[in-house]
Amino acid sequence: MRNTISLLGAALLGLATLPAHAEDIPRIARQDGVHRLLVDGKPFLILGGELGNSSSSDLADLEGHWAVLKAANLNTVLAPVTWEQIEPVEGRFDFHVLDGMIDQARAHDMRLVLLWFGAWKNSMSTYAPAWVKRDGERFPRARTAEGKALDILSPSYAGTRDADAKAFAALMGHLKTVDADKRTVLMIQVENEIGMIPQARDHSKAAEADFGKPVPAAALKALGTKKTGTWEQVFGASAATDELWQAWTFGRYVDAIAGAGKTAYALPMYVNAALPRPGAAPGGYPSAGPLPHLIDLWRTAAPSLDMLSPDIYFPDFTKWVPPYDRADQPLFIPEADQAGKTPAPANAFWAFGEHDAIGFSPFSIENLPAAGVKDLGAAYRLIDQLKPLIVSHDGGKTMRGFRAPVAYDGTVDLTPLKASFGAWDLTVTVVDPWTPKDAQDFAAHGGMVIQTGPDEFLVAGRGITVTFATKDGSVGLERVREVTYRDGAWVDGRWLNGDETHQGRHVRLPPTGFGVQRVKVYRYN
Ligand code: DGJ
Repeated sequence: MRNTISLLGAALLGLATLPAHAEDIPRIARQDGVHRLLVDGKPFLILGGELGNSSSSDLADLEGHWAVLKAANLNTVLAPVTWEQIEPVEGRFDFHVLDGMIDQARAHDMRLVLLWFGAWKNSMSTYAPAWVKRDGERFPRARTAEGKALDILSPSYAGTRDADAKAFAALMGHLKTVDADKRTVLMIQVENEIGMIPQARDHSKAAEADFGKPVPAAALKALGTKKTGTWEQVFGASAATDELWQAWTFGRYVDAIAGAGKTAYALPMYVNAALPRPGAAPGGYPSAGPLPHLIDLWRTAAPSLDMLSPDIYFPDFTKWVPPYDRADQPLFIPEADQAGKTPAPANAFWAFGEHDAIGFSPFSIENLPAAGVKDLGAAYRLIDQLKPLIVSHDGGKTMRGFRAPVAYDGTVDLTPLKASFGAWDLTVTVVDPWTPKDAQDFAAHGGMVIQTGPDEFLVAGRGITVTFATKDGSVGLERVREVTYRDGAWVDGRWLNGDETHQGRHVRLPPTGFGVQRVKVYRYN
């Protein structure tokens, strides 16, 4: 007979004490030292996916994508709303595509994060309306040092900023009207992958004038220097200095946009970063976005933002996450490696388990192949079931995420991973002991461990094997049970005393599928 167990008891008690005002709009809050996204007053994990750029621009096209999004067990879709579409004529707004998108999302019981494709999308200005694109007098272009105009709006002109802010505020005001009661829309991304290219800064007339001014005191403080003077006097003449100025300028612009939007409807807002390839110098990558070396500057320049977020397409996922998991902001990954790549689920487990991520979202989600739907769908289902436990534990303390680090060139580091929960020392490997090595996709293995009692753990994920030790004695496995989630409760399944645990030597989650095991350990001497 199966036992219904109360793994969730403590977690649910914890959640019961949280405010749950129905009128709460989504917000970021710090609870017990961890940043949470609160939706309807309760912690929410975005199990997301971002649509390709054009898939939400036409409602008939969008309708065809929900089946895949549902099958992959998403609870949130990230989708663009473009300046060109909502304000085709200056001052005349058209929200019918947005309204249709919200209706479709509600019909499929899905939440949305909207991406404001305003002045910039991947550095360029392709989503600005024609009346902006064609009016270089009113909306000047960024320029190279040689004076060549770029297809990038300069962020140094108040007229452009104000027009962008006006459209964005109109969008937020409209959202308040149509969505404040149901709260289908959870958060807003402001612009998309801002960055100056092919030079580290804009050299338009207004940019040149501003670059020659003294560095603002707040920027000096953020950059940790006591020197004063112009940007070049303080930091020297270099592309790196150009990038600092440009980051401050972008940050101030975006702060004005986000501030105007929040005045209309104060949803959480973030800006996403296009990360640089190894060895690339400022100007050689979209420069001055919210990159790891510019986060302090950006956070100071744009206090209206709730967070800065990395778009992680490179294999070295574990390298790019820590800089964005900070005391002053939560971790949110709006774009993770293209949907369908096998490491995505392991990355999700690691981000939620180790870094208390508020959300994870592979890009081009509607193009997920069948294998990816199955894979990501299984991982998301499990993370959703674990959610009450995940949001009542602190990643890095009572919860740890595990996945092998991968280098930029794809090489997987198979050094066993170590973690301690009080006196219990865990060693975790992604090398499955019972599968031929050449048949294993190590980068796709990962999971999390949650300590649920003094000597009890929950191990979840796939392709990880865990051994337990203490400094002063040996550790045995008192009990290992497979558990599954049914009707709101974890239900004990098979007893794993024999070959599955190598007769008490380890806890093993096979690489063939996602699962959960409940483990009780004991010490012997
Ligand atoms: C990152 C951008 O933010 C997306 O809009 C899209 O262009 C992808 N790159 C394409 O890989």
